[in-house]
Amino acid sequence: MFSFLSKDQKTGEVAERQLDETNIPAHVAIIMDGNGRWAQQRHLPRIAGHKQGMNTVKTVATAASHLGIKVLTLYAFSTENWKRPSAEVNYLMKLPVDFFGTFVPDLVKNNIRVKVMGYTADLPAATQKAVRDAIAATKDCTGMVLNFALNYGGRAEIVTAVQRLAQQAQAGDLDPAEITEQRIGAELMTGDLGDLQDPDLLIRTSGEERLSNFMLWQVAYSEFVFMTQHWPDFDQTTLEQAIYAYQQRHRRFGGLKNE
Ligand code: FPP
Repeated sequence: MFSFLSKDQKTGEVAERQLDETNIPAHVAIIMDGNGRWAQQRHLPRIAGHKQGMNTVKTVATAASHLGIKVLTLYAFSTENWKRPSAEVNYLMKLPVDFFGTFVPDLVKNNIRVKVMGYTADLPAATQKAVRDAIAATKDCTGMVLNFALNYGGRAEIVTAVQRLAQQAQAGDLDPAEITEQRIGAELMTGDLGDLQDPDLLIRTSGEERLSNFMLWQVAYSEFVFMTQHWPDFDQTTLEQAIYAYQQRHRRFGGLKNE
C-alpha cells in the first residue's frame, strides 16, 4: 500500500517508492498555482485552467483523505485576487458553487468535513450560500477536514486577530501579559483546528517558490515542497511525491537532530 512511481524533478529518473504510513503529514496546505499557464499552453482561456483545477481539487481531496491526511488546506482565492479581470474573478466565485453543487455527496461518502477560512462576508451571496450549505451538509463528518482559504490573506488574518485581542484588553478582559503564541493562534482562522492548525507540509505547484501571503503565522515550522507541475496536472501521484519528499526531511523545530 502507498507505493508509487516517483520521477525525480531534476534528473527525470523513475523509481518505485514506498511511503512511510506512520509518517503521513497531518496537515497539508497547498498553494494551487499554474491554472492560467496550464490553459495558455493549450491555447485555452485562463478560466479553462481554473475549471480543470477544480477537478483536480476533487481528485486530490479524495486521495488525501485515503492517505490519512487529517487537514487539507487549499488556497483557492486570496484577498489580492480581486485585482484580476472581473470576468476571471466572477468565474472563480462561481467555482465553489459548481464544486459543492456536484461534490458534496462524495465528500459525505468519504467522511470529509468542509471548513472555510477567509473574509466570506465579502463573497457574492451565491458563493456564501454554497459554502454555508456545504459546511452544514458535512458538519457531522469525522474524517479529513477540507479547509478552503477563500478571500484569505495571511497578514489580514493576523491584523484581525490582533484587533480582537486589543478589544479584549481594552474592555479589561485580557491582561496584555497573557497574550501568548497560543492565544494569538487561537484567534486566527485556523484556531478551531486546535493541535492541527499548523501545516506540517506546504506544497506550491507550478515552480514558483514564494508564500504569497498564505498562512504566514502557521507555516513557521512547516516543510516546504515546491513542485514543477501546474495545479491542473497535479494528482494522487504528485501528492505522494510531495509527501515522500517531506518524509526525507528531518524536522527539528529549532532543536537538534534526534539521532
Ligand atoms: C492560481 O493559478 C490559482 C488560483 C488563483 C485559483 C485557484 C482555484 C482553483 C484551483 C479552483 C478552486 C476550486 C474550488 C472548489 C474553490 P493562476 O491563475 O495564478 O495561474 P498562473 O500563475 O499560471 O496564471
